[in-house]
Amino acid sequence: MTAVEKQKIAEFLDIAGDYLSCGYRGDKKDYIFNDEEQIEAPWGAPWGAPLEDSLEKIALEIQNCKNCPLCAARKNAVPGEGVSNPVVLVIGEGPGADEDLQGRPFVGKAGQLLDKMLEAIQLSRKTNCFIANVVKCRPPNNRDPHPQEAEICSTFLQRQIEVLKPKFILLVGIISAKTVIKSTQPVGNIRGKFIDYKTDNLSIPLLVTYHPAALLRTESYKRPAWEDLKLLRSRIDALEN
Ligand code: URA
Repeated sequence: MTAVEKQKIAEFLDIAGDYLSCGYRGDKKDYIFNDEEQIEAPWGAPWGAPLEDSLEKIALEIQNCKNCPLCAARKNAVPGEGVSNPVVLVIGEGPGADEDLQGRPFVGKAGQLLDKMLEAIQLSRKTNCFIANVVKCRPPNNRDPHPQEAEICSTFLQRQIEVLKPKFILLVGIISAKTVIKSTQPVGNIRGKFIDYKTDNLSIPLLVTYHPAALLRTESYKRPAWEDLKLLRSRIDALEN
């Protein structure tokens, strides 16, 4: 605390003392205050100051996480991958078998399709996207993550969003829509329009579309998904030009 801050607190306490003694002005003491020395913690941040979060720190915590039962069967946790200042943060559901083996998001069939979809609008995890999931460990037999698992794990996702500060968020599939924007609607009802994802510090345009695995199963989802991607591209162009 600085000397000025201490002085202000002392003045406030003096006034509060006067108030408590029904307005009688008591004797005022002259205090002499000094600035407190900032003591450096071993890792560089002053004691008491919030530590800077980082993608690496979050990834390490995810790899060691035992906050929910999904940790029991994982081969690898999957924190996510991509650039650290993404234009778009893509958020899926959770790792499948391929992702669990490699510790990387969207590397199976659905992932290959996701990469093609992104490439069609000049996006890629190598240059301008970050790919993450709601849950970072594979749910057994590829079942949907339970809402409680998603809730527990989404603290990591929220921290990733705060660190990444993406220009846009693309939610693929119902699980990420349920978890991130608390939607109770099917994807068909909420896709195709931007909403704002708001935190205390950020407001990020967010779009929901179909999960690439759903596109592999259901041909009729492909056209609306393409419309969503074109809409995303046009918003990016509007921002960049
Ligand atoms: N499906 C997802 O939602 N995420 C992955 O990482 C892989 C498949």
